[in-house]
Amino acid sequence: MFARLSPTEPLLLVQGLAKSFGSLVAVDGVDLAVREGTITGLIGPNGAGKTTLFNLIAGTLAPSAGTIVFRGERIEGEPPDRIFRRGLARTFQIPRPFPQMTVLENLMLVPLAQSGERFWNNWLRPGAVAREERAARARAMEVLDFCALAEKAQTPAGQLSGGQLKLLELARVLMIEPKLILLDEPAAGVNPALIETLLERILALHRRGVTFFIIEHNMDVVMRACDPVVVMAQGRVIYAGSGEGARRDRRVLDAYFGDLPE
Ligand SMILES: Nc1ncnc2c1ncn2[C@@H]1O[C@H](COP(=O)(O)OP(=O)(O)OP(=O)(O)O)[C@@H](O)[C@H]1O
Ligand SMILES: [Mg+2]
Repeated sequence: MFARLSPTEPLLLVQGLAKSFGSLVAVDGVDLAVREGTITGLIGPNGAGKTTLFNLIAGTLAPSAGTIVFRGERIEGEPPDRIFRRGLARTFQIPRPFPQMTVLENLMLVPLAQSGERFWNNWLRPGAVAREERAARARAMEVLDFCALAEKAQTPAGQLSGGQLKLLELARVLMIEPKLILLDEPAAGVNPALIETLLERILALHRRGVTFFIIEHNMDVVMRACDPVVVMAQGRVIYAGSGEGARRDRRVLDAYFGDLPE
């Protein structure tokens, strides 16, 4: 189904990617690679274009220019559900579950390429649809257990704390078996204990072979989990390398703190 990757070809390759909103160039010719098996970090000051870059990769926005290659295939401009089904999943900086529906119901809404989506299947093959629903429910419970949310399965999503919502975001993308997960500020607004749970879950998934690309402002999380680290400022990649190297890089320091005296 997928083109074979050569050992040197990254899982995700972005080249010359650009996106403008009117006269504002939010993403300005980005080149970057996410290698399979890494937890690649993406940092940069507010407004650097990080979320816009994720929106382009995940198909939420169409690029003005450039290419995105995932597992050897061009995906730029594809609709988000198609990209999701390829195994490239993203979470949102601001989670948006259906607040009245339970945690479990929110997960059951994740499109799993079920035949039940097509109304004639409900009519012609009700048995198959019921089987798929049972499978989706079992998968959802497994995922909730993994994300330390099993006790909240019947709770309306609107009653979750900020940290629990971040875990639900992660649970949502685990309904499929993603190859690459983009996390947009997973630790923001999350209490320290839940940050540990989240980090532990990310590292456990990583050990199982999931690759991550993570936007995060919490530098403790970045330094503990991410290698390499990519830094964006004003729509461009200004650094890619080790986290330690980023801390000492003059362009990175300038981007965060303004021009420093010699
Ligand atoms: N839909 C949009 N329409 C117009 N401008 C936008 C849109 N989305 C983002 N922008 C602008 O593009 C720039 C990059 O925004 P983006 O959200 O990608 O930054 P970010 O690096 O994710 O910042 P933060 O760390 O604050 O989340 C900002 O100037 C922002 O105001
Ligand atoms: Mg953002």
